[in-house]
Amino acid sequence: MTFLRDYFRELYFRSKLFRHLTPWLIDDRPPPIDYSHLLSFREEQIGPLQRDEALALFGLTRVLHPQTIVEFGFLNGHSALNFLLAAGPDCRVFSYDITERAEEIARRCLGHFKNFRFIKKSQADFSPLDIENRKIDLCFLDASHDLILNLKTFELVRPHLSEMAIIAIHDTGVWHREFLKNHHRAFIATDLGKSLGRWIDKEQFQPVVDERRFVNDLLRNHPDFSQVHLHSANTLRNGLTLLQKEAFLPTDPTPEK
Ligand SMILES: C[S@@+](CC[C@H](N)C(=O)[O-])C[C@H]1O[C@@H](n2cnc3c(N)ncnc32)[C@H](O)[C@@H]1O
Repeated sequence: MTFLRDYFRELYFRSKLFRHLTPWLIDDRPPPIDYSHLLSFREEQIGPLQRDEALALFGLTRVLHPQTIVEFGFLNGHSALNFLLAAGPDCRVFSYDITERAEEIARRCLGHFKNFRFIKKSQADFSPLDIENRKIDLCFLDASHDLILNLKTFELVRPHLSEMAIIAIHDTGVWHREFLKNHHRAFIATDLGKSLGRWIDKEQFQPVVDERRFVNDLLRNHPDFSQVHLHSANTLRNGLTLLQKEAFLPTDPTPEK
């Protein structure tokens, strides 16, 4: 028996096929996870979430098990789908965008999710009534890329965050020259690229300056929010910054050393 167990363990670590089969062999398997969309997300996206960033937010959502997610910036709905598939039907997902195209895509592609609501409104016009006065557990900001609008959105959203809420801000990273592909170089040369981004030095390009200024402004004026940057100098990463209100974890009454 021990011999067999050791053999199967070795097979499990060495064989992808065997790992795929394993869930059918165990009796207390958890409900399946649908991550099928991630297999077709592009890793070298400009704008929407990169594949590995979507994977990180998918994992974060699974871990937090939020009841309310608010997204600013729907575009074609890929980040919204990522949240919906990670969160499950008991979580309400609200997504804001200002274009009719986004509204139409939301209706046609996500209309079958009963827990999803598209809100055609600017991020800077957020009202708690839009989200039925719910407390926000996870907020994703990937919309105007404008410092003033982001600061306004932060002030509007802040009173409606749950105690342990996380705010994830997209495009706070830098692109390192050695990882640029042709489409990144082409983007940098466009009017949009020039209006959103700027070189820091010869090697590092900030694709969205205002998102970086936004998190720096929060660090200066809201140091009560901790920041974690999901950035990389080893690959081309658009970058995410996670914010969470700083707080001591409650412990039992024994005095801490
Ligand atoms: C980078 S795209 C969002 C990508 C999407 N989150 C994804 O990963 O699939 C930015 C979106 O924000 C929207 N947007 C621009 N200004 C906005 C504003 N003031 N309020 C809300 N959405 C806005 C744009 O219409 C666009 O669809």
